[in-house]
Amino acid sequence: MRVQTLLMLKPDAVARKLQKQIFERVKNAGLKVVRERELSVDAESAAKLYKVHMGRPFYPGLINFITSGPVLATIVEGDNAILTIRDLMGNTDPRKAAPGTIRGDLSDGDILTSDGTIKNLVHGSDSLESARYEIPILFPDWKA
Ligand code: RTP
Ligand code: MG
Repeated sequence: MRVQTLLMLKPDAVARKLQKQIFERVKNAGLKVVRERELSVDAESAAKLYKVHMGRPFYPGLINFITSGPVLATIVEGDNAILTIRDLMGNTDPRKAAPGTIRGDLSDGDILTSDGTIKNLVHGSDSLESARYEIPILFPDWKA
C-alpha cells in the first residue's frame, strides 16, 4: 500500500550534514522524499511528537536533544514506506544497529548526550497511526 511517513533527520544528522547519504538510502529503497523542511523544533512541538514517551527516564533528555538544533523534517512516500524506513533506520541504539542500516553505518560513535539520551540520527513513524499524528506537527498544511 502506498503510504506516507515522517522521516526526521535529528540535530546530530543535520550537524554532520548526512542529508545526502540518508536521502540516497531512501531512494535506493524505492521510496521518494516528497516534502522537506529544515526547522528548529520548539518545546511545544517536541512535547507533542514525543507524547508517548512522557514519564520515561529519557524523556527530558530527548526533548533537550530534539530542540538543541535544526532538524530536517521530511515526508517519505512509497509502498510500505513506514516499515521500509524503520528497517533502513536500524536499532534505536546505534551500537546494536545492523550494518547496512542508517544508524549502524552512519553513527560516529558519539551517541550519548550529556544527560544520557541516545543520539541516533533519525526518527521514523512506527505505524500509520503515528505517521498521521506526527506529520502535521512538522507540516501543519499536510492533508492525509
Ligand atoms: P524514534 O522514535 O526516534 O524514531 O526512535 P525509536 O522508535 O527507535 O526509539 P523509541 O523507543 O521510540 O525512543 C525515542 C527516542 O528516545 C531516545 N531514547 N533514549 N537513553 C535511552 O535509553 C533512550 N531510549 C530512547 C532515542 O533518541 C530514541 O530514538
Ligand atoms: Mg519511536
